[in-house]
Amino acid sequence: MNTIRVLPEKVATQIAAGEVIERPASVVRELLDNCIDAGSDRILIEIAKGGKRLIKVRDNGVGMNRDDLLLCLERHATSKIKSASDLFSIETFGFRGEALPSMASVSRMEITSRPEDQLAGYRVKIDGGKLKSVDETGSPAGTIVEVRDLFFNIPVRKKFLRAEKTETDHIVDILSKIALPFLHIDFRLDDGERTLLNLPISENDLNRLAILMGRNVAGSMEYLDQQLNELKIKAYLASPDLSRSRGDRIFVYVNYRSVRDRLITRAVIEGYGQRLMKGRYPQAAIFIEMPPALVDINVHPTKQEIRFRDGRRVYQAIVSAIEGVLGEQFHPILDGASDKGSIEFRETREAQIPEWRVAEPEGAYSGSGDESPNYSETLFQKQYLVKQSPQIIGQLRDTYIVCQSDEGLLLVDQHAAHERIVYESLKKAYQSMKIEGQAFLIPHRLEFSLKEGRVIEEKMHQLNQLGVELEHFGGSTFLLRSVPSILVDAEWEGFLFDLVPVLEKEDDLSKDEAMDKLLTVMACHGAIRAGKRLSQQEMISLVSQLQEMDLPTNCPHGRPIFKRFSFYEIEKMFKRVI
Ligand SMILES: Nc1ncnc2c1ncn2[C@@H]1O[C@H](COP(=O)(O)OP(=O)(O)OP(=O)(O)O)[C@@H](O)[C@H]1O
Ligand SMILES: [Mg+2]
Repeated sequence: MNTIRVLPEKVATQIAAGEVIERPASVVRELLDNCIDAGSDRILIEIAKGGKRLIKVRDNGVGMNRDDLLLCLERHATSKIKSASDLFSIETFGFRGEALPSMASVSRMEITSRPEDQLAGYRVKIDGGKLKSVDETGSPAGTIVEVRDLFFNIPVRKKFLRAEKTETDHIVDILSKIALPFLHIDFRLDDGERTLLNLPISENDLNRLAILMGRNVAGSMEYLDQQLNELKIKAYLASPDLSRSRGDRIFVYVNYRSVRDRLITRAVIEGYGQRLMKGRYPQAAIFIEMPPALVDINVHPTKQEIRFRDGRRVYQAIVSAIEGVLGEQFHPILDGASDKGSIEFRETREAQIPEWRVAEPEGAYSGSGDESPNYSETLFQKQYLVKQSPQIIGQLRDTYIVCQSDEGLLLVDQHAAHERIVYESLKKAYQSMKIEGQAFLIPHRLEFSLKEGRVIEEKMHQLNQLGVELEHFGGSTFLLRSVPSILVDAEWEGFLFDLVPVLEKEDDLSKDEAMDKLLTVMACHGAIRAGKRLSQQEMISLVSQLQEMDLPTNCPHGRPIFKRFSFYEIEKMFKRVI
């Protein structure tokens, strides 16, 4: 028969510690949280052996007197909340009173502390959770916590720790993440004699962003700052060209706390929309501030996950804020390629280029500044003389249109470009309920599988709205009577077969997202293919139309439409400039 026992306090604390302290980086996170809560503006971290031998964190915060120093080692002892209702107005990182006792139970720990208004400081020593000594000592105002020999008393956990370098990397990561929104705090991380990170007080987020994401990425970022009632959203958004196959560079902060949150991550991706290819993630940092009552932080043992009271609203606010700021970007493609190619147009374009470096390779020259060889004068005159038509050089492998612009060489992917044009035309037509269908003189007979047939029957009405008229002919045979005029030359049989899986997946086709997917399939089939020879006139018209698009940089699947090679880059290639 089972015998139930109450575990000794020491074992219970060790078990609880397992949830809070997983590795040296978790100790660093908890200690940093405490220093920040204590109002410090200078925090120094020293580690040895990836934090496995030593983690020492020193701050200049409020400090603790002797009583508090002893109390802070007790479980559930905290100065940060008093009652359960305080949980909904937490403005500090800590609230559980778990962190210090947890780490004390799995290491040899020393805490030295002195509040500024007291003459003497105190030092406590604890070994594996056992209090060894409390002594008066001289110490600077603030607190020093030393955690030595992590997991010395739990060999199994110690074995799970990784190599020194890996653990050090985790510590560097966690510090750079936590420090990002605290520009008024000076942080430093030393490993023996070596300073691994030095984050002086700064006015500007970009220095710390550069540490997290690299200088090129940080330099290319768009800034967003919006207040929507009680919700404040600030974000740095890297160019979609710098997207990654993993979402590990989307940094999310809610009320200054670095959190993992799928809702916000999804909102950021949705905000980038078609600027990203499927399965790609942008690089971004997003800071949300809202009243503590609207977010629950007590849902995860390490406080890294949160729950919003009204997630939907937060989601939508982020999506539209990001869409707004990315949508405002001006996307110059080809100077003078359209009727807009007037002097006025050139001026606005030049004023805006340095802000946003779309589709340029990393480190490429992107401005219109003085270093650029001055071709524009003569070129512009020429373009003006030829009535601003695009300077099409030709077609490469019947797939890319090669153009000359003011700035250099431009390669346009004809399929991607046309897909974008067809997509936006269809979308506008759909929004104004004006997708024009074109009827066939003789309807086409199409055979589907039983399942496909059922899906089509069910979604027949929505298909009609898209200009696709199908008539059930019995069994799973349908007659295609009309298609959107834009698709008339398309291989519409393949189009319908591609459309069915989308119809099947989307329950509610009236939703924008679902409709977008359908329109994307339609655009793909309606667009000219790679490998199709185009006349000069067709190329001119394609590039001109592209200039009129809302998002001329990416096809609806997120692939880039054009690539530019500036004269400066070309000259560098040929060593005309160094
Ligand atoms: N660096 C520090 N400076 C001043 N006081 C501190 C410092 N670190 C801890 N304390 C005090 O010790 C208490 C216990 O700290 P501990 O980290 O264990 O719990 P907490 O921060 O209250 O909650 P949590 O477990 O969620 O971190 C804190 O409430 C705070 O009063
Ligand atoms: Mg704490």
